[in-house]
Amino acid sequence: MIKIENLDKNFAEHHALQAISTEFPEHKTTVILGPSGSGKSTLLRSLNLLERPESGTFTFDDLKIDYSQPITDQTILNVRRRTEMVFQQFNLFPHLTVLQNIIEGPVHVLKHDKDAATKQAHEILAKVGLGDKADVYPSSLSGGQAQRVAIARSLAMHPEYIFLDEPTSALDPELELEVLKVLLQIAKEQQSMIIVTHNMAFAQKVADKILFVEDGQLRFDGDTDAFFNTDNERIRSFVSAMTFQSL
Ligand SMILES: Nc1ncnc2c1ncn2[C@@H]1O[C@H](COP(=O)(O)OP(=O)(O)OP(=O)(O)O)[C@@H](O)[C@H]1O
Ligand SMILES: [Mg+2]
Repeated sequence: MIKIENLDKNFAEHHALQAISTEFPEHKTTVILGPSGSGKSTLLRSLNLLERPESGTFTFDDLKIDYSQPITDQTILNVRRRTEMVFQQFNLFPHLTVLQNIIEGPVHVLKHDKDAATKQAHEILAKVGLGDKADVYPSSLSGGQAQRVAIARSLAMHPEYIFLDEPTSALDPELELEVLKVLLQIAKEQQSMIIVTHNMAFAQKVADKILFVEDGQLRFDGDTDAFFNTDNERIRSFVSAMTFQSL
């Protein structure tokens, strides 16, 4: 389980995250929602130390980090080995085939046997619906396919948590759907995930837990049904704007 307490992050004068405390349960999907600029990416990136908050604590099972103290490279490596980040822009290696992209981490970082890693990569590719794309290069993939390769690549590392920051915001709706289906399947298999998204229908379907962030503050922390049925006027108006209900 990942837990944060009193996390504070400033960018110069801007107080991007203010005393954020919450938990990200294991084997569940936590979705982070909120308006643009509210601090969602900063929060997610703080969890794998791509951002360094000034203060607060981070607990990951028996690992405890005090953000206000120096953090060793060993600790950063430890957190990054146990988590995987999937970005909006896929970040595949263009000079490697799909298969090579997927086995790169297992072979070079985890030191797995290449044959075993290749066998696993084929299984994962089949699972994300790309069994026939092992030998092509990323440049020949659609955005939706590229993002599924990025997801396959993170699954191949068997991380405890996968973090996804707006994984479908660069995609057309039809391509988005194929990625969302894969994520729903992975969620069903109880992979621990933390997802930032602007897609309310997807959030409602995939999330076990919702965090709503606004102006760097955590304004909702609870279960998905409670979020979508809340009386809170601000949350209702956010959801309705995001789903065009007010048109
Ligand atoms: N590296 C940075 N330097 C300065 N300010 C930053 C930096 N990164 C983020 N910010 C600011 O911190 C605030 C939160 O940014 P963040 O990227 O976390 O928002 P977000 O909720 O992910 O927004 P979006 O939905 O647009 O992705 C914003 O006001 C942003 O401009
Ligand atoms: Mg963001």
